[in-house]
Amino acid sequence: MDQEKVLLSEKDIPTRWYNILPDLPAPLPPYLHPGTGKPLTPQDLAPLFPMALIEQELSSEKWIDIPDEVLDVYRIYRPTPLHRAVKLEKALKTKSRIYYKNESVSPPGSHKLNTAIAQAYYNKKEGVKRICTETGAGQWGSALSFACNILGLKCTVYMVKASYYQKPYRKSLMHIWGAEVHPSPTNLTKSGKSVLEKNPDSPGSLGIAISEAVEDAATHDDAKYSLGSVLNHVLMHQTVIGLETKKQLEMIGEKPDVLIGCVGGGSNFSGFCFPFVPEKLKGKNIRMIAVEPTACPTLTKGPYAYDFGDTEKLTPLVKMYTLGHDFVPEAIHAGGLRYHGAAPVLSLLVNQGVIEARAYSQNPAFEAGVLFARTEGFLPAPETNHAIKCVIDEAKKNEEKCIVFNFSGHGHFDLSAYDAYLEGKLEDFEHPESKIEQALKTLPKV
Ligand SMILES: Cc1ncc(COP(=O)(O)O)c(C=O)c1O
Repeated sequence: MDQEKVLLSEKDIPTRWYNILPDLPAPLPPYLHPGTGKPLTPQDLAPLFPMALIEQELSSEKWIDIPDEVLDVYRIYRPTPLHRAVKLEKALKTKSRIYYKNESVSPPGSHKLNTAIAQAYYNKKEGVKRICTETGAGQWGSALSFACNILGLKCTVYMVKASYYQKPYRKSLMHIWGAEVHPSPTNLTKSGKSVLEKNPDSPGSLGIAISEAVEDAATHDDAKYSLGSVLNHVLMHQTVIGLETKKQLEMIGEKPDVLIGCVGGGSNFSGFCFPFVPEKLKGKNIRMIAVEPTACPTLTKGPYAYDFGDTEKLTPLVKMYTLGHDFVPEAIHAGGLRYHGAAPVLSLLVNQGVIEARAYSQNPAFEAGVLFARTEGFLPAPETNHAIKCVIDEAKKNEEKCIVFNFSGHGHFDLSAYDAYLEGKLEDFEHPESKIEQALKTLPKV
């Protein structure tokens, strides 16, 4: 192939999102009310989300139209390019063909904007004035700040404290787009105070930040909550990635053998892979590998069980792979992968054997990211490095395979992490079995 980039035109931006729920090989276990343990009703979610998103969360429609106003903002950066990683292939001396879908070209620098725009739009349409959210690495917070700014909403972000200080420039970006940003745990919410009482030096976690954002939204009438991953509607908004990738591969006559992405809550991986799942369920031989950090090995070491999405048990109970809702991962640089759970739909597909999972520690992941930057030029986000490490391992098998991965974001705000890696100062963390046993004890009895 002479072509190194496969480009679509703006008329090829998908006009519908793909909802995998009706195509799942087994029914999705229902969400349960955190107080009563009974299956959740749409009304239970109404204090947190606008009705349109609740309907999408529970919808059995296979395709959902993307509103024109959302497409209008998508056009700022979509469609995104599919690149062939020719120079990386050469460096690896592999017979495999490697492609990457470049979601780093959005203004905030990651895939997160695909759902941020949609969520801000539906909130605005239903009269919401302010959106509260959490952020790990700051990618989601900056994406939602951008979306709220462009659609005229206020945005409050609870940013995991470890990242707030490791990545001050993500916070600056959020400020530029008009958001209010707090290092979580804060003294502003009951949830935050309760964590600080137990551990004043808590580095924070996504689980804690979610509790704070949910509490803020639930206690203010004009505000709602927004989640950057995990939920069905979020994964569905991200399917624009996979739908475009499918079209791009078809344009050059390629069929993927292996699809790879990193997993925090599961949204970029799912949005990238789900449009290919129906073919796989019909017997096509496509491997799908979800990559996570060894410091937070939810899919590879956690049990598949009902658990809360947050530390303070404010969210519904969902069945997912989990390390326990009060698990606080080590402060690895891939802040966006530090989540104790994983999307229920992704978890179900892992449990059914449709999707494989693998874990890597941060030094090998950064080594892979640096090789990528030295060959392909783009500097990956630390989260994305985990996917690249897996791509490299697969390519080293030297098979004539088509490997495609999702380049979920750039690492321009993660240079201190790269410095630490280059200076040999990054620590690798394993999640010991004893901690898993401990986590199992905290799981709610359902
Ligand atoms: C660049 C990047 N990739 C991946 C992730 C992981 O999130 P998810 O699994 O929802 O895609 C994040 C989360 O912040 C991120 O910023």
